[in-house]
Amino acid sequence: MPGPNPKALAMSQILPASSFAAPPCPTPADMRATLANFATGVAVISTVDAQGRPFGMTVNSFNAVSLDPPLVLWSLGLGAQSLPIWRAAGGFAVNILSAGQEPLSRQFSSRLEDRFAGVNWRAGRDGLPLLDGAVAQFECRFWARYPGGDHEIMVGEVLACHRAEAIPLVYAQGRMGTLQPAG
Ligand SMILES: Cc1cc2nc3c(=O)[nH]c(=O)nc-3n(C[C@H](O)[C@H](O)[C@H](O)COP(=O)(O)O)c2cc1C
Repeated sequence: MPGPNPKALAMSQILPASSFAAPPCPTPADMRATLANFATGVAVISTVDAQGRPFGMTVNSFNAVSLDPPLVLWSLGLGAQSLPIWRAAGGFAVNILSAGQEPLSRQFSSRLEDRFAGVNWRAGRDGLPLLDGAVAQFECRFWARYPGGDHEIMVGEVLACHRAEAIPLVYAQGRMGTLQPAG
């Protein structure tokens, strides 16, 4: 009878038995708390609904995808009441909030009937709402939508982008702030 495989012996000496157990499965609360350590900007994604009214929501899932073609993404929770608005929309604008626009981030994540009440904005191409005072803006048409677990991943092709001389709002560990030089 052959003796024990020397390689298998070596593995069992290096790795403790617990290493072979099923990996821990993070709960949604674990995921939320851990992801909170990734600092992001804050954006209001805006569009117009079927009646031509401006609509927007605060997100921090915005991210870059591609430079050529120019693509960006954000993800929408499937529990959002506005899901039908986004599914019917042909495009969206990304308004990157500047330092000092924290009140807008609250307004656009609220249950207000009209989140644009009292907000200064102008219509960009295709009527997409562009918020005054944003540090940057992207005007997009939908390029793709992908399933993403309990979110839907919205990918937009950027048709126009704008930048302003301002400092971006930063979001991390559940708090809003501004940039501080490192070191
Ligand atoms: C800082 C911040 C970031 C957020 N990021 C997202 C996001 O990436 N995706 C999302 O679906 N909701 C996000 N939300 C929550 C939505 O803004 C909020 O639930 C939404 O506006 C409610 O929309 P509803 O009326 O369509 O349900 C975020 C909220 C805050 C305050």
